Amino acid sequence: MIEVSKRVSAIAPSMTLAISAKANELKAAGVKVINFGVGEPDFNTPKHICDAAKDALDKGYTKYVAAAGLPALKKAIVKKLKNDNNLDYDPSQIIVSNGAKHSIFNAIFAVINEGDEVLMPKPYWLTYPEIVKACGGIPEYIYAKPRHGYKITAAQLEAAISPRTKMFIFNSPCNPTGAVYTEKEIRAIADVCLKHNIVVLADEIYEKLIYGGETHFSIAQCSPEMKDLTIVVNGVSKSYAMTGWRLGYLACPPNVAKAISSFQSHSTSNVNTMTQYATLAALEGDDKPMKDMIAAFGRRREKMLEKLEEMKFLGLDYVKPDGAFYVMLLCDNLYGKSYKGVKLNGSMEVADLLLTHKQVALTPGVCFGDDDAVRLSYALSTSDMLEGLERIKEFFSECE
Ligand SMILES: Cc1ncc(COP(=O)(O)O)c(C=O)c1O
Repeated sequence: MIEVSKRVSAIAPSMTLAISAKANELKAAGVKVINFGVGEPDFNTPKHICDAAKDALDKGYTKYVAAAGLPALKKAIVKKLKNDNNLDYDPSQIIVSNGAKHSIFNAIFAVINEGDEVLMPKPYWLTYPEIVKACGGIPEYIYAKPRHGYKITAAQLEAAISPRTKMFIFNSPCNPTGAVYTEKEIRAIADVCLKHNIVVLADEIYEKLIYGGETHFSIAQCSPEMKDLTIVVNGVSKSYAMTGWRLGYLACPPNVAKAISSFQSHSTSNVNTMTQYATLAALEGDDKPMKDMIAAFGRRREKMLEKLEEMKFLGLDYVKPDGAFYVMLLCDNLYGKSYKGVKLNGSMEVADLLLTHKQVALTPGVCFGDDDAVRLSYALSTSDMLEGLERIKEFFSECE
């Protein structure tokens, strides 16, 4: 028998696996499952982006390129960071990787030593703690309370810092809560990081998906000193409906970029070449399809919130999300009640019962470290969303 390493065995299996396996079984049996579990836009990649990939193939751009990314693409990313975020980087500070997830892995692997602590608000994107553990670090959590809009305060962050704290993972707009921090809140958090010399991993993958008048502010914008302590991660998966293409990138201080570039040259090498040409077209081409998609998400969000407001009489609650395409439905008030004789003990039972009895798939909050809620994605058609919400309402009204 091959014994797996301690590092790999520390990684938790995906908690959503059982739910998605069951949902797939039902679908295969011809049952209409309404899926609120989706983590990607339900839109196709815009045509001009696909055409750029085809064109790259026709031109024979099928060979290795520089491990850290095509020079033209890195230049386009530098331009994007300047135009959108007013951040100045040299192309050598940009590393293009296989999705933002890969960029996050590279960033943590490059900075964290065995036993270093990495802070993050909870609820968190479920991959962060597992990458931290895989890199020998220790994830530590700061509770982002629903009544504070699922946002932590600078004071909470400061109280959580220990002598072992090396990094803070900051994700605004946030998956799973949709929380978007304001510039003022971000500046207060940056002050604490600067005071204690904490590296910030700023995951800005949902940057473009912001509604209701809020705007994105990168923590790296706070000051040149803060920029020197920040690794900015972004990508095209969510904003350009390009999840399957696999392209993310990071921008960081030169010494870190150099280390990541060397590591990537020995691990994955370059992101597939045609995807890089497609991404160049995404960043430099017509942004109307992206804007239309965001507007569609905005309309669905309105409808979703309207319906959730109507469900409050059942004891359910939610926190208005300003970004991404998720909302947390707080159902802890109903714990202790039963559905068809099965007691609701937590978000896992809620998800399981909803799938079994109402054919609605969603993600239990426990996957994000918060058992009080379930996450609903609105990356599904409006008609499915409305039907699904009706089924959820029925389910909770049948609990006794
Ligand atoms: C918060 C967050 N960061 C990063 C990612 C990874 O994105 P990518 O598809 O670019 O790897 C996701 C994807 O779900 C995410 O939700």
